[in-house]
Amino acid sequence: MLLEARDLRVSYGDVEAVHGVSFHVEEGELVSIIGANGAGKTTILNTVMGIIPSRGGSIYFRDTEITALPSHIRARQGIRLVPERARVFPLLTVFENIMTGLYGLRKSTDVPSRLSWIYELFPVLKERAKQLAQTLSGGEQQQLAIARALVSQPRLLLVDEVSMGLMPILVEKVFEVLGYLNKEENLTILLVEQNALASLSISHRAYVLETGTISIEGDAGTLREDPGVRKAYLGA
Ligand SMILES: Nc1ncnc2c1ncn2[C@@H]1O[C@H](COP(=O)(O)OP(=O)(O)OP(=O)(O)O)[C@@H](O)[C@H]1O
Ligand SMILES: [Mg+2]
Repeated sequence: MLLEARDLRVSYGDVEAVHGVSFHVEEGELVSIIGANGAGKTTILNTVMGIIPSRGGSIYFRDTEITALPSHIRARQGIRLVPERARVFPLLTVFENIMTGLYGLRKSTDVPSRLSWIYELFPVLKERAKQLAQTLSGGEQQQLAIARALVSQPRLLLVDEVSMGLMPILVEKVFEVLGYLNKEENLTILLVEQNALASLSISHRAYVLETGTISIEGDAGTLREDPGVRKAYLGA
């Protein structure tokens, strides 16, 4: 198992936001956690990345416990987060933003070939390489945030609500890229989304998160047919 969370609990002050959640991601899988506003999706990803501490439970990465490790050590082990709202460094150029993703990289990595691979995936970033990131549109910033996470060849990519604020055609494009990376590049991905339709269409398995608790889990096809899921998340 690449990632496993057991009975994870996370609180903000006295208020518990995640109430004992368990999930796992196998090597090569694309897994989604879907849920409404405030369900705890960002909280879970930030806890896996080590940005916020857990109050209980444990997290394993490649069968080793990482629950207490700081996030930069998790990053070095190959975990990367595409944060909510594509938070890029506004006053760095597009190129510089991508280079920040190389933190802790193994020396043997061929940076020029990684870069040309990134520019092939996201041609707009090549055109805009010298521009400040703050001059990019929301959709372009989203692509930059993904590029920054990818350049280091992560073992596990965490993606926080990549569809937020994007027009439908861009949502489609970004999900297409994620699906491609998983299928063709064998990248393991855990994504959290409100957009159940788009995420289930590329996922192997999914979990439904309701106010800090997982209510349903199963393979993506089964969840798409589940009456409760359809009613709550697919508008059917
Ligand atoms: N920094 C914080 N301080 C206090 N409470 C917080 C904080 N961040 C999140 N929360 C609370 O924790 C709960 C889960 O929030 P979280 O951001 O994880 O939800 P989410 O599923 O990512 O929602 P969204 O789809 O809107 O991004 C919410 O009730 C939220 O108000
Ligand atoms: Mg969120």
